[in-house]
Parts: sequence; structure tokens; C-alpha cells
Amino acid sequence: MLNLIPKPKHYEEKFGEFVINSEKTVFADDNLVYAREVFCNFIESVCGFKPQVVVSRKADIRFIYDRHVHKEGYVLDADVDGLVIKASHQKGAFYAVQSLRQLTRGDLLENPEFLTLHAVHIDDEPRYAFRSLMLDEARYFHGVDTVKNILDMMAYHKLNVFHWHLTDNEGWRIEIKKYPRLTEIGGVRKGTQTMAWGNQVIDWTLHEGYYTQSEIKEIVAYAERLNIMIIPEIDAPAHFGAAIAAYKELSCADVEMETPIVHGGTPEKHGIGNVIACAGKESTYQFIYDVIDEVTALFPAPYFHIGGDEAPKAEWQKCPHCQKVMKEMGLKNEEELQGYFNNKIAVYLKRKGKRLIGWNEILTAKRLEKDIIAQYWTFNRDMNVENYLLSGHDIILSKHQAFYFDMPYAQNRLKTTYEFEPEKAHITRAQEGILGIEATLWTEWIPHEERIDYQLYPRMEALAEVAWTPKDQRNYKDFIARLKKFLPILDRNGVEYCPLSLANPKGLKRAKTIKEFNKRNAHVEYNHALVIRRRKKYR
Ligand code: ACM
Ligand code: ZN
Repeated sequence: MLNLIPKPKHYEEKFGEFVINSEKTVFADDNLVYAREVFCNFIESVCGFKPQVVVSRKADIRFIYDRHVHKEGYVLDADVDGLVIKASHQKGAFYAVQSLRQLTRGDLLENPEFLTLHAVHIDDEPRYAFRSLMLDEARYFHGVDTVKNILDMMAYHKLNVFHWHLTDNEGWRIEIKKYPRLTEIGGVRKGTQTMAWGNQVIDWTLHEGYYTQSEIKEIVAYAERLNIMIIPEIDAPAHFGAAIAAYKELSCADVEMETPIVHGGTPEKHGIGNVIACAGKESTYQFIYDVIDEVTALFPAPYFHIGGDEAPKAEWQKCPHCQKVMKEMGLKNEEELQGYFNNKIAVYLKRKGKRLIGWNEILTAKRLEKDIIAQYWTFNRDMNVENYLLSGHDIILSKHQAFYFDMPYAQNRLKTTYEFEPEKAHITRAQEGILGIEATLWTEWIPHEERIDYQLYPRMEALAEVAWTPKDQRNYKDFIARLKKFLPILDRNGVEYCPLSLANPKGLKRAKTIKEFNKRNAHVEYNHALVIRRRKKYR
């Protein structure tokens, strides 16, 4: 068994071992020099010495350019005499180094004088181009260090896309120089609904925070060194409450409101919550274009996420501006108005070389621009997912029951996440347009990093394998066997993961936990885990 997550596409274990000590020399072809540096830094951080860099292909450790290897793939050959890594691009060579970190178990050793690598041949490449994780920072702002920690772990798992949910009703978290009230007003809320969707208890602690543009640049550069592309999200037209709190004219009826403190509410029901932007006023579009100008200047990724989910249409039905545009444009209903809204933004983004991504309910909107990417989260929101693929569009899969990592393990069991296949998202006929897999970490009930850890690990390991490893190489039992060897690495990194014994709840207890989570206490599972941990510590 190879101690590697995600499991590679193909490998053969061989006899013997290669020793990495201070005598060993290292060489890299020109375009793989970056991966060589990452490798040397890893060895130095573990062993205290840097392998000696030489310009000869006779070196003991060689990073060799091979144009036949997949851009994100690598071939790794280790035997008694040497270690050779072949790659066509620094991305693949970087992943070879990530594999070496796990295979040598270097991250677990205490000042070793050398590392050993069991002789092996690995031929590896990803199943999907998008291996993605989303973090919601609107509900809770976590800050630069937490994001960097997550990015570090993502790279270790060969994940390559970070989707950053930066705005929502409960907070606006990115500095926009033209509209300072977005962060001054929209970045602050007076309290927070802290217990559960079905529990109205409010904690009246002020919550605030946002990223300055210079911090964003720092994080984008940090991610780039880890081969991670960051896709920003500005959620619109709904989930727009923080923006409207800052600039009321963005709403249909100039709604006076404060940044919402209740999650998932609707204006009809709660008077606060999920408030929608006016899709009729031209000034709304100008605002969004201005925001896009500043945001796209910070993020080089050729994608831009506009959310587009859960858009309540009641305000649009009553709004003279919205109704006027519908009439002028011949739009039959408010769904088509959302399509009009999306297309206008898609066209603007296209001029900047960006493709629009939105949640799958944008599919209900008719006449969508061709290159819009849909992100599937729930079939109920739109049954057209497969038709969308069949008509040549692209899609990202984030099925709620597998990849909503904010859910308790009682609802989204580790095994269910691991065993995901596109068929489980009702996609049986057309798989070419599947760009990849994304897991989401919404943070309504995730106020701090320890809780992120609990929800995210060991699910990140399962995600990595679903997104990287071919179907025929995946097996849950085999995964768990490797995961047990991997957990000490998480321990060493101070990650407060969910113990395996709690990751697949069953039976009545499972049903009770789900009910409790939704109705009364979204922390029930986590608190139970803390009690167990404490008991173990003091036993
Ligand atoms: C979503 O969970 N509203 C995309
Ligand atoms: Zn309107």
C-alpha cells in the first residue's frame, strides 16, 4: 500500500529504497526549477540541509522535462541509485514534490539526518481540471492566516482552485475603493444568529472584518506559488443584503436596512435577510461593473463567480423599474429577468476575458450566454443539468449531499463524499463538460478555525481523491487504510479533524443529529466530539 492521498492513477512498488541525505545532488531542467526549489525547501525544513544543486543531468535527483506528460501530471521513479521526476510543466513537478512529502513521511519526523523513499514507479495525473474548495467568509470573516493554512493544505492534497465567497447578506468582505461603505457598513453586523436555522437566538457580539486590496494581492500571490487559482465571488442579484445596507438605492424600493444578522431569512418572512438587487435600474449594473473592474484587477483567474442562487422574485414583481425592463426586453417572467441580468454581466466579464460561473438555478433563466458555467448543487433547483451539458456547456459538481462540508457528518457521511460519481448528480449521458468537483464550506455555523478543521478534515482527503483519482482506482476501504496513516500528518499540523469513529453516523442517532442540527443546535455534533476528546485527554 502506497501512503499517498490522493491515490495516484498508476503505481508499482519496487524493491529497495532511495536515501535523501546531504551528499545527494539535484538537477532540474529550466522550466522545472520552481519545483526543484520547493523540493529543496522541503528537505531543508525537515532535515536542516539543502540538497546541492548541480547543472549536470547525472545528479542523484533529477527533474526532467518530458512534453508527453500531462500538464498537472508527473512520472516519478525512485530506486537505490536515484530519483527521477518527469514533468511537462512546473505544476506537475510541484505535485511530484507533494507526493514526495507524503511518501518520505518527512512532515512527521523529528530532525532526521536523512529521508528514505521506498523504490517506486508512479505515473500520475488528475481526473478533473477543477479540484476546488469554496470558503464562505461573509457569514464569518476568518482572515489571512486561516486562508493561508487552508491553501497550504489544499496544495498538499493536489487541489488547485479556491473559490472565495466574499459577499453575502451577512457581510461584504472585500475592499472596493469606489464604494467604501460596502466594508464600512456592509462589513459590520451588530449580532449573529448563532445556534441553528430553526433557532432565533442572537448573540449580540459585533462581527466585522474585510480584506484590503493589498491583502487580497498577497493571498493571490501566495496561492499562485501553490498552484492554486483563486476565483472570487460577488453574489448577485440575491444574497445582496450587505451591499443594500450600505447603498439602499441598489434595491428595488430603496430598502433601509442594517447588515442582516439572521441567516437564510427572506425579506417577506423576516423583514431582513436575503435581499435582492434591482435588476431594472441601470445604476445597479453600473455598480456591479465598477465592482467587477476593481475585483478583476486583483484576481488573474479567467473566471468570475456571481452566485445567482436563491433569488426571491417578489420584489421584482412589485418594482416599476424591473417591470419596465421586462416589458421593453420582451421578458415573460422574473426568471427571464434573472437571465437578462446574468447575460449583461457575462458580456461585461467576457470583455475582460473572464467566464461567468453561477449556481445551477441560473439554468432556469432562458437564453443564457453560451460560455456561462453552471455549478451544480441541488437537482431540485433545476432539473436541466444534464440538458445543459448535452447542449455543450460546462459544469462544476458540488452536490449538496456529498460536498456541502458545512453539513454535519450525520447528514453528509464521509463514505458518501468518497463514493461520489457524476451519476449521483443525475448525469449519466454527458460527462465531457464536467470541469471538476468543488466542495463548499458555508460558515453560518462555523465561527472559528477549529470548527473549520472539524468540518473540512478528513473530508478534504475524500474530495481530493474524488477529483484526482480515476474511478477504477478508488475503494473506500483502501482509502480508510491510507487515511489512518495520513491522520498523524494532520495531527502534526495541528488540524482538529473529525475522528474517523464519528465520520459515518448511523441509525437513530444519525436521524436525531440531523434534526437537532436544523432545528435547535447546529453545533451538536461538534460539541459531542469535543466532550469525547476531553475525556480521552484526562483519562
Ligand atoms: C447555495 O447553497 N445556495 C448555492
Ligand atoms: Zn427592481
